[in-house]
Amino acid sequence: MGCCPSCQEWDSFIEEQSMPSVTAKTPKGMVPGSGKKLALKSLNDVSITHQPRLLAGIHEWDNVIGGGIMPGSLLVLTGDPGIGKSTLLLHVAYKLSEKYKVFYFSSEESLEQVKQRASRINSINDKLLFSDQAQIESIIETGQMEKPDIIIIDSIQNCFFSASHTFPGTVGQLRETSFALMRLAKEHNIAVIITCHITKEGQMAGPKTLEHMVDGVFYLQGEDRWHTRILRSVKNRFGAIHELGFFAMTHEGMEEVPHINQYMLDETAHAPGSVLTSSLEGSRPLLLEIQALIVPTKFNVPQRVVTGLDHKRVVLIAAILEKYLHIKFSAHDIFVKVSGGIKINESSADLAIALALLSSYFQDALPEKAMALGELSLTGSIKPINGIEPQLKEAQKFGIKTLFVAESQKLSDRHVVKLKNVYQLLGLFGTKQVAST
Ligand code: TYD
Ligand code: MG
Repeated sequence: MGCCPSCQEWDSFIEEQSMPSVTAKTPKGMVPGSGKKLALKSLNDVSITHQPRLLAGIHEWDNVIGGGIMPGSLLVLTGDPGIGKSTLLLHVAYKLSEKYKVFYFSSEESLEQVKQRASRINSINDKLLFSDQAQIESIIETGQMEKPDIIIIDSIQNCFFSASHTFPGTVGQLRETSFALMRLAKEHNIAVIITCHITKEGQMAGPKTLEHMVDGVFYLQGEDRWHTRILRSVKNRFGAIHELGFFAMTHEGMEEVPHINQYMLDETAHAPGSVLTSSLEGSRPLLLEIQALIVPTKFNVPQRVVTGLDHKRVVLIAAILEKYLHIKFSAHDIFVKVSGGIKINESSADLAIALALLSSYFQDALPEKAMALGELSLTGSIKPINGIEPQLKEAQKFGIKTLFVAESQKLSDRHVVKLKNVYQLLGLFGTKQVAST
């Protein structure tokens, strides 16, 4: 077909050869005699061999991966192009190669380019071995013969099956190559890490194609400010998901940032519209600053610009405050963001959002190092949150001076301010004039 009837693109059709082993249609009906009687087992009779995890010694990485790489697992590291996947993997490969046999296949960059990067980030040794070959049969053959502990392939979208007639990076090829690598990993107990760019559109297939068949999927995400990079586990058969690891992209590569909360607090200003809250990401309590800016609107429809939070939630909280406190948010533009490029999905940030909105509206800052943890109900009451202990510990560690929580939250500390409903929030902002109106 010349022109695609759906997107009107010309010459966009690609012929894909189906792999008999993967995609061949099963014959209709049963072929007599082709099956055999299977012996089943109780789990009591299944023995487990304990395999130690492969630790890189980069704590932020090891932790997100689930306490080191599981031998024989197939992992995908994904993220936007240029975010730092190759840089991070080079660091990890270099550290792993001190203890394990690691092969690095750089299908995207030549060995000279890799060397330039490696010398920039000071990661060259005799042990880590490289190849710039991208033919998947050869990579697999090498793996089978040499039996390394870990194979890294950067990126899978550039690898190809020589038998296949399609371009590298198409959905069919990506599936075929990953399937073959999965077998290599399982049959030879080699951990395989592949990178895969997130693709917005076009011919290249993205990581979603692979997610169901691999053991772990890790996203490297970026925030331009501070050059922070967040490594997030979204699927992990051998560890917890939603774990976060923090890195900073510097001129010497990716440095891990183990004290992210200190980093965040240092960036926080004591000003109107700023309130701290804490959210549990995986097993890790993060201290986060919510910033709000309220200004009288110049348009018929007021703007609501929200980053890092659920847009609807912010609109809802503004509506609750408007209803019960008669604050005319509907005549104001609302801008709310979470600092550090983190997204908060938990309702425990409701109270902090409400306080940030009011603080900006009244142009009155809350006490310094004030944190809020509580949920808001539609009736205007403030609800306690479950499992608050890790966040509290972290708050104490960083010297949070005032903690706003629900009245029914079981807590007693001289720093705690208990609030029953939204009416009591007004009392926190004294009698100052509304500067923005
Ligand atoms: P890279 O690891 O190549 O990204 P990806 O593999 O995800 O496409 O990172 C490329 C970017 O990182 C590039 O813009 C340059 C920058 N960079 C640094 O800032 N410091 C460094 O030490 C290195 C190696 C790269
Ligand atoms: Mg790369």
